[in-house]
Amino acid sequence: MTPLNCTLLFFFFFTCIITTSSSPPPPQPYNYGYSIHINCGSSTNATDPYNTTWLSDRYFSGGTDSLISEPLRFHLPSEKTLRFFPPSSYGKKNCYSLPSVSSSRFLLRTFTLYDNYDAKSRPPSFDVSLSSTILFSWRSPWPASTASDGAYADLLAFSTAAHNFSVGEATIDLCFYGYATDAPVVSSVELFEIDPASYDAASTGKDVVLVNYGRVSCGSDEHWGPGFTADEDRFGRSWQPDSAFRILPDKESEARVVFTQNDVSGADLSPNYFPMKVYQSAVTAEGNLEYEFTVDAKMDYMVWLHFAEIDSSVRKEGERVVDVFINERNVSRVDIYKEVGRFAAFDWHYTVKNLSDSSLRVKLVAAVGVPIISGIENYALVPIDPSTLPQQASAMKALKESLRVPGRMGWNGDPCAPTSWDAWEGVTCRMNKDKTSLVISAIDLASQGLKGYISDKISLLSDLVSLNLSSNSLEGEIPSGLAQKSLIKLDLSNNQLIGSIPDSLASSSLQLVLLNDNLLEGRVPDQLISVGVHGGAIDLSGNKGLCGAPSLPSCPMFWNHGRLSSRGKIAISLSCVFVLLVLLLLVYIYIRRKRNDYDFGLPHELMSLAAKRNRYVRQKSLMLLELESQHAKGLPSPFTPQ
Ligand SMILES: *[C@@H]1O[C@H](CO)[C@@H](O)[C@H](O)[C@H]1NC(C)=O
Ligand SMILES: *[C@@H]1O[C@H](CO)[C@@H](O)[C@H](O)[C@H]1NC(C)=O
Ligand SMILES: *[C@@H]1O[C@H](CO)[C@@H](O)[C@H](O)[C@H]1NC(C)=O
Ligand SMILES: *[C@@H]1O[C@H](CO)[C@@H](O)[C@H](O)[C@H]1NC(C)=O
Ligand SMILES: *[C@@H]1O[C@H](CO)[C@@H](O)[C@H](O)[C@H]1NC(C)=O
Ligand SMILES: *[C@@H]1O[C@H](CO)[C@@H](O)[C@H](O)[C@H]1NC(C)=O
Repeated sequence: MTPLNCTLLFFFFFTCIITTSSSPPPPQPYNYGYSIHINCGSSTNATDPYNTTWLSDRYFSGGTDSLISEPLRFHLPSEKTLRFFPPSSYGKKNCYSLPSVSSSRFLLRTFTLYDNYDAKSRPPSFDVSLSSTILFSWRSPWPASTASDGAYADLLAFSTAAHNFSVGEATIDLCFYGYATDAPVVSSVELFEIDPASYDAASTGKDVVLVNYGRVSCGSDEHWGPGFTADEDRFGRSWQPDSAFRILPDKESEARVVFTQNDVSGADLSPNYFPMKVYQSAVTAEGNLEYEFTVDAKMDYMVWLHFAEIDSSVRKEGERVVDVFINERNVSRVDIYKEVGRFAAFDWHYTVKNLSDSSLRVKLVAAVGVPIISGIENYALVPIDPSTLPQQASAMKALKESLRVPGRMGWNGDPCAPTSWDAWEGVTCRMNKDKTSLVISAIDLASQGLKGYISDKISLLSDLVSLNLSSNSLEGEIPSGLAQKSLIKLDLSNNQLIGSIPDSLASSSLQLVLLNDNLLEGRVPDQLISVGVHGGAIDLSGNKGLCGAPSLPSCPMFWNHGRLSSRGKIAISLSCVFVLLVLLLLVYIYIRRKRNDYDFGLPHELMSLAAKRNRYVRQKSLMLLELESQHAKGLPSPFTPQ
């Protein structure tokens, strides 16, 4: 997927800057479904003039807060602060992991502003992805107005997590990737639950993201909707005035704006919930009406046209008949009255495939009467790129925790995707055989100062070929699931790994095994030794007590993996029986002798008391030992500490 070029994305509506006499409109509750509004860079919750509650900054993987340089120019609390992600401290990849919505579809909106917050007068270059797919690209220099006034951008997407809640956490990852040393910035992130069937999902499928390339309300002179006015839109869409997009009529005076206060039926209905306000204004002109949207070529676009017959001069079918041309191609003929009558919403959409142009033009040519239009939406249909196989992604998250991978390595979001950026530092990925997902093929975290342990979730990395965790301070045992069939190279040398070498390691296709300089002990599995025999290399030197391999001491007879072998256990039981027999024999001899000797024993009572006490002490210490071993196994203690 070619990243969308940002200079072309700047149709995005710019924020409203405080004007001298603007009084905030009356607040209105927003109460459809679930929505969250995160005020990036802010440590306090705040409610804005439109009654939207902005949460203090949260769900981010790293970064630093900052105030913009001219906060008084902006009136929403969410526009005054930002979060930036310097790659030197937080790695190349940083994400907001937002809690998933209950329906599987959402609108995500970001506000991005530079406003010279870092006094460097150079807006950063960075990419923004939703999970595996890059959707916004910011390139320095930004247009001056965007850098100083900021830009909202939004998209509609399905939550992949909701496809299968049992895999991984149900979160939506919005990730930022800085170019070179540039620190990505973000001022606010909002998520609105929307109807899964909206925008013709049945035909687009779930594997595309609809990226907003223009959403205009014709005849409106202000940017309206959430964040701009108190007007409601159940999906959190905001609507731009159309004049900036209109190329015909080329004289502003020749376009006529039509308004109505009447209700327009058919608005605000499932599944799209287009707000009525869109249909209460429209533009007409004596000649043709034409709008132009700047887009990126070689993508598909979905264009929605909104009509309502709100001009009282049209009273019956056939009085207004309009042909719709998209990039000079006649795509439809519309007679609004014939479709829905008067004061009723009529929506029509069309998908432009593989657009060869960098502009998308919508022209209305009247066959009868004059053209009229209420609203236009234009979305790029961006296919979702492959992401890491969910089990492997969750294994990598477990390893990130257990190995305590430092934040500077940027282990956030998807481990392998988007593929136009590097995978997590130290991680190599490849496409799986059916080209649907990415899998982990190598992990190299040698000499990274890691202090944790190796999670046994590593067993989910079924395509791992090479693992190098050498020269860290890893503790704990080698998980037995580490031995993948795919694993060829294993370097765990120079750590503080304890315990024995799991038998399973011997059954994999290893060709290089470096376990030297750890605290391993016990018998080396026989087949592992054959790695060396088969022309591979193996180094087990410098451990605590490994045995049973060439150049290592031979193992004590009954010793196996640092524990008693079952042979050893039988041997010990046998020797106990033998000792008991010898004791019985001695007692027998003693009793036989006592009959003839004088009595030198303790009084009977005293002796049995001593014996009892001894036995009690012995039993108690046995019990303690038992408890200790239960603790070691992680079993709950039968005692509650007082
Ligand atoms: C703002 O929202 C709160 C809680 O949602 C509600 O109680 C209050 O009435 C709203 N205020 C106005 C003026 O709508
Ligand atoms: C902000 O609001 C959220 C949810 O209502 C709450 O959990 C959180 O503690 C609040 N944070 C602050 C800083 O007040
Ligand atoms: C969810 O994922 C699990 C584990 O990969 C799989 O066994 C299960 O079939 C999946 N469920 C659905 C509905 O896809
Ligand atoms: C445009 O296409 C419609 C059918 O969709 C047709 O009826 C109409 O005549 C065409 N208009 C022009 C100007 O070609
Ligand atoms: C899209 O159109 C261009 C030419 O405009 C062509 O080279 C390319 O192969 C097309 N791509 C697809 C997927 O149809
Ligand atoms: C593991 O990484 C270290 C440090 O980069 C390197 O010296 C060693 O050769 C690597 N081990 C293997 C098996 O490649």
